Amino acid sequence: MAGQESTEVLIVGGGIAGCAAALASARTDAEVTLATKARRPEDASTWWAQGGIAISRDDPEQFKQDIIDASAGTADPEAVDVLVEKANDAVRDVLVETLEVPFDTGDGNDDFDFDFGREAAHDEERILHVDASTGSYVLERFLAFVDDHPDIHVLDDTAALDLITHEGEVRGAYLESGGDVRPIFAGATVLATGGVGDLYPESTNPSGSTGDGIAMAALAGADVADMEFVQFHPTVYVDEGGTLLISEAVRGEGAILQNAYGERFMPAYDEDAELAPRDVVARAVKRERDLSGEVFLDVSEVDFAGQFPDLVEQCEQRGIDWESGIPVTPAQHFLCGGISVDGRGRASLDGLYAVGECAHTGVHGANRLASTSLLEGLVWGLRAGEDAPGREPMPMDVPDLNDRDPALPDSFAREKFTRLRRVMGEYVDIDRDPDELDRALGVLRRLKGEVDAYVRTRTSRSLYELRNASVVALLIARAAAENDESVGTHNLVEPEESVGLHAE
Ligand code: SIN
Repeated sequence: MAGQESTEVLIVGGGIAGCAAALASARTDAEVTLATKARRPEDASTWWAQGGIAISRDDPEQFKQDIIDASAGTADPEAVDVLVEKANDAVRDVLVETLEVPFDTGDGNDDFDFDFGREAAHDEERILHVDASTGSYVLERFLAFVDDHPDIHVLDDTAALDLITHEGEVRGAYLESGGDVRPIFAGATVLATGGVGDLYPESTNPSGSTGDGIAMAALAGADVADMEFVQFHPTVYVDEGGTLLISEAVRGEGAILQNAYGERFMPAYDEDAELAPRDVVARAVKRERDLSGEVFLDVSEVDFAGQFPDLVEQCEQRGIDWESGIPVTPAQHFLCGGISVDGRGRASLDGLYAVGECAHTGVHGANRLASTSLLEGLVWGLRAGEDAPGREPMPMDVPDLNDRDPALPDSFAREKFTRLRRVMGEYVDIDRDPDELDRALGVLRRLKGEVDAYVRTRTSRSLYELRNASVVALLIARAAAENDESVGTHNLVEPEESVGLHAE
């Protein structure tokens, strides 16, 4: 076993959660390896986060209550306590003082002198932001920090294919880079692999969001939870060029939603109208599109150009005449469930941690409150990163995955992905009909069987991504089929309802 590669802490994923874990581990003088399959910062979901980071202002209890209310009462209060009580110190220490993220500043009256924004289901303005491009400002600085840190060894364009386990304990992972696969042994392995947007035809996530960490953890026997709670963002512009998220912050500033008849419809669905929880608004937008053909975000009452110059630029690049209203539709945005972890990010297998979107901390319950995902990634990333060091890596003999036939027709993964996305988009989307969920399960089981047959003999990143996507799609569809209660993002309908009924 001499010469086998090992590290004290292996982190898989280079978004805010993975970088925060790396920073916290390195602060304890641990030796850290951070592997990310991203080739550019834009490959991480963090980069695309627009709205920002919610923190506590005068009333932390109200912040907690907003999280719980947005989740339809299903968020875990202990996890919410951790998030809110750690929020301000984490943001101040890491984002403000260490990384010097240039958050938009405010009127000088606050402890944190920032221009706090408002988003749906928040009781007050409490969102730190940089224009509507917060994620990219945070991630750029975080990546520069980890790249420059002497104790953090960053491997980019490097995917984790599988966890290495021994008697219920995780001892590292197989990493693939440039077609070569090698085991790396670790005292602790921290999964920070992000979301599952690639499972859906339309998503705000970057491509490559194939649920890798969740699939690897589940295949290794780790517990997962709440997989049916897939959040759809209500205001996404979609054309052949892909998706463009129109931040909830725009509704926070007063933009309204209108159907194709020019009617403002949200007040008929919820007393908080456009600022109702995200699941409520997404369902309403879907209904009104089904009924009237189109839904527009009317920004005429907002200083759109003044307050959201980045969004205006992106709209103009896409040829969107935003002054006449931006056509919007719901699109997959976030997974509230994931790998079950405790308050320190520890999963149910020894040596395994999960943080960020791939983890289920319990904070989001059945529906996530806006601008809490970067915060959750930061807080749990730091906590897991502090906890993970101190275990010796335990190298052992493992099979050589390079022995396998690497040849696989390119079209194989593409074709299967298309089928998987079609099933998820048709049967496991915002409205769910139990018969359709059963149909989805049948197709997804067959698809996974086909993929597994290849994985037994071939190794390639695209094949493993497809395997991960098919494992996670099945977990989502199965959890949805087993949950007969409509709550939050999990909305069961009778077949005829799924074509849309106007709210009276
Ligand atoms: C947005 O800017 O609308 C997205 C914020 C979030 O997902 O929390």
